[in-house]
Amino acid sequence: MAVRDVAVLVGSLRKGSFTRLAAKAAMGLAPPSLSPSLVEIRDLPLYDQDLDERPPGEWRVFRDRIRRADAVLFFTPEYNRSVPGVLKNAIDVGSRPYGSSVWEGKPAGVVSVSPGAMGAFGANHHLRQSLVFLNMPAMAQPEAYLGGAADLFDGDGALKSESTREFLSKYLAAFERWAALHARR
Ligand SMILES: Cc1cc2nc3c(=O)[nH]c(=O)nc-3n(C[C@H](O)[C@H](O)[C@H](O)COP(=O)(O)O)c2cc1C
Repeated sequence: MAVRDVAVLVGSLRKGSFTRLAAKAAMGLAPPSLSPSLVEIRDLPLYDQDLDERPPGEWRVFRDRIRRADAVLFFTPEYNRSVPGVLKNAIDVGSRPYGSSVWEGKPAGVVSVSPGAMGAFGANHHLRQSLVFLNMPAMAQPEAYLGGAADLFDGDGALKSESTREFLSKYLAAFERWAALHARR
């Protein structure tokens, strides 16, 4: 059985992030053929094309990590109906230098998370716009908008919603098939 390396990116930096809790819960529900790991984006210097003449070490490590991945799962909150800048920055860093994007062709999934009722729909779809341009086949169904996120986890950060657990298990099972369908190797 091929085990696929899945890079998991979280678009929130705060300690108590619901988005990070959702990502961790989903990683624990992944089928054995997926090997998900969190890729931290906090320390990536802001993208500045001038720096690409001698790329910062953090950019090089990040780009190498994504290059190795078979697939990418994005977990994003919504800031002002869009993707938080920190996640957009990571996407921009990975996309350059021009012609050497590390995202090229990698199957992707998008899970958006919000305490609000709309499940960060706006961020989910703004992110998809970038993925289209980056030539990343992004799984269309099932869609994943996790609303009411403040009520999904217990005091220890564990998922307490059984229906969300079931949903995330199904989502990861579908993503396994999606990653296999679009595998490059
Ligand atoms: C700058 C900023 C903008 C926000 N804009 C939105 C928004 O457009 N839609 C939304 O549902 N929540 C919005 N929120 C609330 C976030 O959903 C909430 O802070 C959430 O907990 C962030 O995700 P996290 O828990 O993973 O950090 C915003 C929060 C911040 C700090």
